[in-house]
Amino acid sequence: MSFRAPKGTDDVLPPASHTWRRLLLAWEDWSARYGYDLVLTPLFEATEVFARGVGEGTEVVEKQMYTFEDKGGRSVTLRPEGTASVVRAFLEAGAGGILKGAYSGPMFRYERPQAGRRRQFYQVGVEYLGSRAAAADAEVVELGYRYLVAAGVPGLSVELNSIGDRQCRPAYVRKLGTYLESRRDVLCDDSLRRLETNPMRVLDCKVCAPKLVEAPSPADHLCAPCAAHHEEVLTTLTELEVPYEEAPRLVRGLDYYERTAFEYVATDLGAAQDAVGGGGRYDGLAELLGGKRVPGVGFALGLDRIVLALGVEKEPNPLDLYIVVAGDRRKEAVRLASDLRRSGLRVDLDVEGRSVKAQFRAADRRGAAGALVVGDEWADGRVVAKDLTSGDQEVISLEEVQAWVRRP
Ligand code: HAM
Repeated sequence: MSFRAPKGTDDVLPPASHTWRRLLLAWEDWSARYGYDLVLTPLFEATEVFARGVGEGTEVVEKQMYTFEDKGGRSVTLRPEGTASVVRAFLEAGAGGILKGAYSGPMFRYERPQAGRRRQFYQVGVEYLGSRAAAADAEVVELGYRYLVAAGVPGLSVELNSIGDRQCRPAYVRKLGTYLESRRDVLCDDSLRRLETNPMRVLDCKVCAPKLVEAPSPADHLCAPCAAHHEEVLTTLTELEVPYEEAPRLVRGLDYYERTAFEYVATDLGAAQDAVGGGGRYDGLAELLGGKRVPGVGFALGLDRIVLALGVEKEPNPLDLYIVVAGDRRKEAVRLASDLRRSGLRVDLDVEGRSVKAQFRAADRRGAAGALVVGDEWADGRVVAKDLTSGDQEVISLEEVQAWVRRP
């Protein structure tokens, strides 16, 4: 076969996909626990949605968008992120009030591919629209943190900053500009260019940022309302027992943020790809998209990076039972599988008529916790039940199957 998956994209097959399924199911659970409803938006949008929303001067818009003209001559772009689309959808629906939306799905950025940096990658995220309250920021930060802890991400920390708003930022940016002018000699070409267009982007440059540790920090230049908001976010997080570190030079790579900006960092991942997620407040985004002012705060987590951070652990058994057919009991086995599946168990079986030995091998490969052999004992309403971890086996009646599966 001469075809391969496109550069920077991945196929996810079992057993690796067991981890993905677990993470996606847990995401449905955690986002629902915090009251976020499912939101689905198209995988592509009019290019302007991202150009305006994410910002012309950002790495994402300048270099990474999959933009093409469709057959109707419209410029469309595969979504590089979800926030601009959710806000666009909210405005288009003419909705008011609060929307708490959760999403998950593939995003597309033309990156130089490496581990944890893919051209198609998978995000889960939430957007909390319609609230200015610091409690909304704290709730969002907490949800991402609890989810990542439950997922088992090792070495996790929450880094948090406030980057001010349209009131206080201009004065800060002027001060930053003056500082960066004095450090021109250490800046890369991209940063020199951004120094002219959008100096805060320079702090987001992976190459230059480590040389700019003396740069003035946005959190030290907040106006009174931004400072009060920031303080309330921090105290609420402390009350909620969410540990965080203040990160004075964290600015994030997208232009729409105001006030709160944060990242979830898995310190065990390599420095370049250590952010397993990020987010913040974006009260001006709806207006950038031509709508009314709708405050919002949210985050997105990168599943590819979460899976990397988890390593190649063995997942819990994806199947409760594998049914092994001995002799010519296929019909009975199919019926038994159906009954057990309807009762809520995860069950599979072989329908190819393979040998008992081959079926046991398949049971192991499929990660079944136990096997039921449908053979001679069937005539008395019984099966052989084998624990595939310990190797213990016993003959049990069909009525005992549920209890046997739930044995300690
Ligand atoms: P972002 O920081 O660009 O934010 O992306 C969020 C997460 O997606 C990153 O922390 C990373 O884990 C993952 N990610 C980003 N690019 C890649 C890539 N090329 N390969 C693998 N993983 C990647 C946003 O996208 C914002 N929309 C988050 C947000 C929601 N802010 C407010 N609401």
